[in-house]
Amino acid sequence: MRTHYCGELNRQHLDQQISVCGWVNRRRDHGGVIFVDLRDKKGMLQIVFDPDDAEMFARAETLRNEFVLQVNGKLRTRPEGTENSDMATGEVELLAQSLEILNASETPPFQLDEEEVHDDNRLTYRYIDLRRPQMQYRLQLRARVTHFLRSWLEQNEFLDIETPMLTKATPEGARDYLVPSRTHAGTFFALPQSPQLFKQLLMMSGMDRYYQIVRCFRDEDLRADRQPEFTQLDIETSFMDETAIMAMMESMVRSLFAELIGADVDAVFPQISYADAIERYGSDKPDLRISMELTTISDLLEDVEFKVFSGPAKDPEGRVAALCVPGGNSLTRKEIDGYTDFVGRYGARGLAYIKCNDVEQGRDGLQSPILKFLPDEAIDAILQRTAAQSGDLIFFGADKANVVNESLGALRIKVAQDRDMVAAGWRFLWVVDFPMFEHDARENRWNALHHPFTAPATENSAELEADPGGTLSRAYDMVLNGTELGGGSIRIHRLQMQQSVFRILGIDDEEAQEKFGFLLTALKYGCPPHGGIAFGLDRLVMLMAGANSIRDVMAFPKTQTASCLLTQAPAAVSERQLKELSIRLRKPQIDT
Ligand code: AMO
Ligand code: AMP
Repeated sequence: MRTHYCGELNRQHLDQQISVCGWVNRRRDHGGVIFVDLRDKKGMLQIVFDPDDAEMFARAETLRNEFVLQVNGKLRTRPEGTENSDMATGEVELLAQSLEILNASETPPFQLDEEEVHDDNRLTYRYIDLRRPQMQYRLQLRARVTHFLRSWLEQNEFLDIETPMLTKATPEGARDYLVPSRTHAGTFFALPQSPQLFKQLLMMSGMDRYYQIVRCFRDEDLRADRQPEFTQLDIETSFMDETAIMAMMESMVRSLFAELIGADVDAVFPQISYADAIERYGSDKPDLRISMELTTISDLLEDVEFKVFSGPAKDPEGRVAALCVPGGNSLTRKEIDGYTDFVGRYGARGLAYIKCNDVEQGRDGLQSPILKFLPDEAIDAILQRTAAQSGDLIFFGADKANVVNESLGALRIKVAQDRDMVAAGWRFLWVVDFPMFEHDARENRWNALHHPFTAPATENSAELEADPGGTLSRAYDMVLNGTELGGGSIRIHRLQMQQSVFRILGIDDEEAQEKFGFLLTALKYGCPPHGGIAFGLDRLVMLMAGANSIRDVMAFPKTQTASCLLTQAPAAVSERQLKELSIRLRKPQIDT
């Protein structure tokens, strides 16, 4: 139906007979001439309808936004002075010789160039939203990213292998989406939270190097970078250690960024231990574009009279930390109150601060409601340790360590965003040396920090069982600009070690057999050392596209409450279907 895409036409095509198809982006009537911007996936082209052809002109007058057209005509230069340098096709226009209205359109629920369209509206009419040039670009970029990754991995001997969607639970820390079985009444498949166990089995199958671009399902609280179904670039290899795997992944990501968006990425990604990341940034996915860091000052405050500080300073699980904001002295009372509310969302009970007017003068050069509670030595030591300069402001967090880390960690980012302190660029890093387990004090049990198939730093299972809390794992996370892009590890490849880990997690032999019997058996038949990683493909594309949410790089995402506004899923099913599945609902169905 067409000879060219609208967006690709330019001076080279002058005087050619051209046919284009697309949507009316806008119609303008100008002194007896009608202009239509016609839009397709490659861009926009100006079409001119001249009154000479009265019949066609009359039809052109009926055109409205989002009508679908086929137009034939001759490409000509725009009259001098009417060129549009904002448009790629801004020097030319198509003088229409024939017009076919392929379809009309009702007035769309929102204009494509409208600034503030409500998210719900965008998702309900996603097919219209996706017509926007920005969304076209994002999905095109996504396709180029997957294409690039596939060819890179295939050049490096990785084999694309599919794994089941109807399967058994793989613990990645979220709730499962369950699918009832009709043929085995009362039993359920779980949709995979990741292909973790299958990719390990593929290593045991001698496949050597595996990859898959695969959908994963997790029923968890959603945020801007989380969806109930999302896509992983999932990778596993045999006979490579973490150093080799990390180097290989760096090289893949570096080529991807260079090739697709011309980004210059560090030759070697810095590595930082989990403990350091938490200490300095309050987060295991630090944004290195922000130079501010947290400073521990617990040891300076154990004996001060101010209980808000001395309590957590003396508590082995507590922490007192400072965040020095360069130039922060200019923050108003109202802004500081705003930040106090902000850290409150992370459980902080307050946000003490000191304004530094003139640090040379010590106490006299400072301004703060808490100064009166602090002795000179403590004040001097705080100024010294935070390296505060005149004009800065120091925020303080004092609480259980996790509350301080989360609240000051989030404040660090918030303040930097508000005050334009986020440098440009791509700051990759690896976070390594994660603890194997974290202790859940409420339930008095150990949880795996990654998944339970991650190898500990020790080869000795007795050593691990003797000190679960003190053992590090062989896991690594790739972080970019404050987003966890991917996570992986070297896996346990010996039966005894896997059994020890299950025991520490409180999974007894019987339960281990029931849940992971197939894995435990497989470990008996010659399992090679292996490891891998999974990248959040949506997050990767989100960052490359400069989008704020992974929803903006997914064609048909779900809402914050895990529903699809377009199809109205999830939805009730018929009594007959339930009966076939041997399911009786407890309560009348909840309206979603
Ligand atoms: P992990 O659970 O860290 O590891 O997941 C890997 C990456 O997937 C992305 N991700 C998500 N993206 C969008 N929405 C979500 N709900 C979501 N959850 C995770 C993140 C994350 O870094 N099997 C292991 C990998 C391995 O060990 O090889 C795994 O799934 O970018
Ligand atoms: P108060 O004595 O409760 O009025 O607190 C004095 C100052 O300390 C106020 O600026 C509070 O915001 C701050 N503050 C109170 N609790 C904490 C805390 N846990 N961490 C940091 N600052 C706090």
